[in-house]
Amino acid sequence: MFPSFRIGSLVLDNATVLAPLAGISNLPFRLLAKEKGCALVCSEMVSAKGLLFQSQKTLRYLDNAPEEKPLSVQIFGAEADSMAAAAKIAESAGADIVDINFGCSVRKVVKTGAGAALMKDAENAEKILKAVRQSLSVPLTIKIRSGWDASGRQALAIARMAEDCGADAVTVHPRTALQGFRGNADWSLIARVKEKLSIPVIGNGDIVRAEDAIRMKSETGCDGVMIGRAAIGSPWIFSRILALEKGEKIHPADPEMHFDMMLRYLRDSVRYLGEKNACFIMRSRLGWLSKGLPRSSAFRDAIRQITSEAEAVEKISDFRRLLCEKES
Ligand SMILES: Cc1cc2nc3c(=O)[nH]c(=O)nc-3n(C[C@H](O)[C@H](O)[C@H](O)COP(=O)(O)O)c2cc1C
Repeated sequence: MFPSFRIGSLVLDNATVLAPLAGISNLPFRLLAKEKGCALVCSEMVSAKGLLFQSQKTLRYLDNAPEEKPLSVQIFGAEADSMAAAAKIAESAGADIVDINFGCSVRKVVKTGAGAALMKDAENAEKILKAVRQSLSVPLTIKIRSGWDASGRQALAIARMAEDCGADAVTVHPRTALQGFRGNADWSLIARVKEKLSIPVIGNGDIVRAEDAIRMKSETGCDGVMIGRAAIGSPWIFSRILALEKGEKIHPADPEMHFDMMLRYLRDSVRYLGEKNACFIMRSRLGWLSKGLPRSSAFRDAIRQITSEAEAVEKISDFRRLLCEKES
């Protein structure tokens, strides 16, 4: 049910995709998802302008590692020329796919004409799609919402336009721009887009448990499933989807897996972000990975002030020991 599928020239091992998640899907996080079987990981959204101006902060979003490949880099912007140039920069930095953001509904982005604003400006959307397609030799994808209003007509029109302009896949997060994250994702729109396109359609929105991914695929006929929020605290959702697909039973996550993942996430974050920044971020992230474990709220309190990698390792070891002792 989740066989390999193609995005342009790229063959993916299975049909699970990690969503672009601003502030979260950086290199260390993507490595966790990859290790748990995710076939395609996506970067956080990257400003086309930032890349063109060679902002060091923006360029760092392009950092990548061989173990996470293939990698999709998502760019956002509203001008065809700068988007085409940014796409080229992303490709040169190692992107195996370039994705265009048609879904961000944050005011700061939308007011520049980028993100979800492109869904109501078909003329500019087409210019961008054509320019980016021409500049790239790797596959091109787009990630859309339903549109501005609830009709879904904009999603269908933009998805068709993307295919006509040479895009290789479309991801649909079926909520309107105005909805933000409220309400439910309308999976029937994913099915409607799938019916209209020949290129692969990746469904996204409200996959909370592995079972939801299987259900989305059978209800909509989508070629792939993209997972965002559920992967943040449970990167193992990918391996669970793959296990379910093979007909295997899935069991509650083993505490040892939580601990191993925390340690790896910490180590890679320190390597990638430096100890000070990594520890600051890990104060919340390690807590997310402890969700579902007994006594996790005490652990979250304990890591709230960590300032060094050694201290974080110690807190994780204390927690591990506490749970092991309780079990024995
Ligand atoms: C913290 C956060 C950051 C996000 N950043 C991006 C982004 O950079 N680009 C994008 O296209 N969507 C972004 N999204 C939307 C997700 O990719 C996804 O479409 C949405 O969360 C619905 O999927 P889910 O129900 O699996 O979370 C973000 C969502 C969250 C919660």
